Amino acid sequence: MTIEIPRPILKDKKALVVGVANEHSIAYGCAAAFRELGADLAITYLNEKAKPFVEPLARKLEAPIFMPLDVSKPGELEAVFERVRSSWGRLDLLVHSIAFAPREDLQGGLLDCSAEGFKVAMDVSCHSFVRMAKLAAPLMTEGGAMFAMSYHGAQRVVPNYNVMGPVKAALEAACRYLAYELGPRGIRVHPISPGPLKTRAASGLKDFDLMLNEAVQKAPVGELVDIMDVGFACAYLATPYARRVTGGTVYVDGGVNIMA
Ligand SMILES: NC(=O)c1ccc[n+]([C@@H]2O[C@H](COP(=O)([O-])OP(=O)(O)OC[C@H]3O[C@@H](n4cnc5c(N)ncnc54)[C@H](O)[C@@H]3O)[C@@H](O)[C@H]2O)c1
Repeated sequence: MTIEIPRPILKDKKALVVGVANEHSIAYGCAAAFRELGADLAITYLNEKAKPFVEPLARKLEAPIFMPLDVSKPGELEAVFERVRSSWGRLDLLVHSIAFAPREDLQGGLLDCSAEGFKVAMDVSCHSFVRMAKLAAPLMTEGGAMFAMSYHGAQRVVPNYNVMGPVKAALEAACRYLAYELGPRGIRVHPISPGPLKTRAASGLKDFDLMLNEAVQKAPVGELVDIMDVGFACAYLATPYARRVTGGTVYVDGGVNIMA
């Protein structure tokens, strides 16, 4: 069967990208790749403190929608989707590239993680994706694709990943169930598992440089990934070429996950 492909391949696609903090953010790689392939972008920033770092990037990517979004603040998520609806009338792509755990809970072992820390980590890093999917799905009237950033610590024990391991495992499981529920509506859901990248979020992990070193040693391709590798992998999954791919974790890690 032939697939009708526009040029550029994401021309006129409407993409909401959540998680740009600065030019090192994985979300920025996704936004830049989507833009390069023709998509129109909605970009969010966490709060007034983050705004000056994100605004120049949103301008560079010519994003017509630029709004605050802290998923733990009631009403902010709804406001973003309402703006998408009023400006575009629909949405094609959604990127969830956010994670948070209180530092003291993140830096200790799982046994020492507080109930409150576990709850916050799960809410910001996992359940917020379910909330986003619920708001995004009715706007994906022509089908669509959703992406959530996971990590291999969801599947295997990675020292120092701590509470984020179970949280990412829940995120990947949530993606599978959402893929099942949304598949009939032509919406695909992709958990993406990037290799380690030097970003602000990663700097909260203990001994992160050791993780980077191990990844480069182990990677069959012999190199670490960068944010554009992740962005273009998501861009491929956003195209009709990937229309029968959904729910499974997609590794963008230079092959580290296949190694013992
Ligand atoms: N850097 C890595 O090595 C790596 C590897 C695999 C997966 N990931 C995942 O990629 C995603 C993006 O992280 P990153 O590495 O690009 O770091 P980053 O610091 O650039 O991005 C993290 C983002 O989460 C946002 N965030 C935190 N709390 C939030 C809240 N309450 N509401 C809205 N946004 C909030 C921050 O504002 C920031 O934009 C995360 O889910 C992370 O776990 C990172």
